[in-house]
Amino acid sequence: MKVGLIGLGNMGSGMALSAVRAGLSTIGFDPAIADRAALEAAGIVLADSVADVSAQAEVIVLSLPNSAIVEDVVLGADGLLHHAREGQIVLDTSTADPASTLRIAEALRDSPLRFVDGPVSGGPKAAHAGSMTMLLGGETADIHALQPVLDALTAKCVHVGPVGAGHSAKLFNNLLCGINLLAVGEAIRVARAAGLDIEKILQGVNAGSGRSGVTEVNCPTWILNGAFDSGFTMKLMRKDLGLAAEMIENSGAHAPLSQEALRLWKASAGQLGDAEDFNRIVEFVERQS
Ligand SMILES: NC(=O)c1ccc[n+]([C@@H]2O[C@H](COP(=O)([O-])OP(=O)(O)OC[C@H]3O[C@@H](n4cnc5c(N)ncnc54)[C@H](O)[C@@H]3O)[C@@H](O)[C@H]2O)c1
Repeated sequence: MKVGLIGLGNMGSGMALSAVRAGLSTIGFDPAIADRAALEAAGIVLADSVADVSAQAEVIVLSLPNSAIVEDVVLGADGLLHHAREGQIVLDTSTADPASTLRIAEALRDSPLRFVDGPVSGGPKAAHAGSMTMLLGGETADIHALQPVLDALTAKCVHVGPVGAGHSAKLFNNLLCGINLLAVGEAIRVARAAGLDIEKILQGVNAGSGRSGVTEVNCPTWILNGAFDSGFTMKLMRKDLGLAAEMIENSGAHAPLSQEALRLWKASAGQLGDAEDFNRIVEFVERQS
């Protein structure tokens, strides 16, 4: 199977390396590649355009910054739909707007191009290791056809529903992570004010029902040691939370806790720039008066 990667940034470059390591013939395209030599040395063919990738790959994995770019790459004048061949499947691993994903699926309905949304967790480290978690939205037959690529890129996949459901599930995941980071930041602030040993308190929490991905992974790996180098930026997290805010609004559901958390994340933009690590929201919480 020949796999194409469109978007070779922090995540896409790691995915391309994982694909090639798994024995998949891999071609990639990105107009602004950080390290061409490293990708070429690993055996990845670098194409000059989306059309070049489409001409050679059966499975085309997207890892792009936002839905507007995904729509352009798939539906634009020189996009994947324009060059589509029978049997091709697009796997969109970007964190994207579910409403846009549904628009794309509708536009592809009578085309030869199949579409699956598969946003990911685990960050650049897991993309490089081929150990990401992927939340899949799409037809079961299409997901089966993607199996060799899923095996190369992921340690765990969950098929959460029809096309668009993967992107919705990812927004719930990031919303819950965002709320949790604020809550843990507040707990750290209270524990510090009470003169407690934060590391010991977290050890206790992680042995109990208050534990979470944030307390078990983010705190020791990126927060308490001051590393703040997860590879996931404030810009990307704010994008995801903006999409979650739209999802809540479109649903019409009452969600006051989420809305307060979203307000705090938005307010953090005054103190934490786009390039900062998203875990720094904990420091923002600690500074609040
Ligand atoms: N970084 C993370 O930890 C992480 C984790 C999970 C999900 N994501 C999601 O994965 C996606 C990619 O994230 P990233 O951190 O790799 O971002 P990134 O900014 O490092 O990479 C995106 C790449 O897309 C390229 N690109 C832009 N327009 C393009 C086009 N028209 N054709 C081809 N390439 C194009 C850019 O040049 C860039 O290299 C985002 O949707 C993000 O939300 C990121």
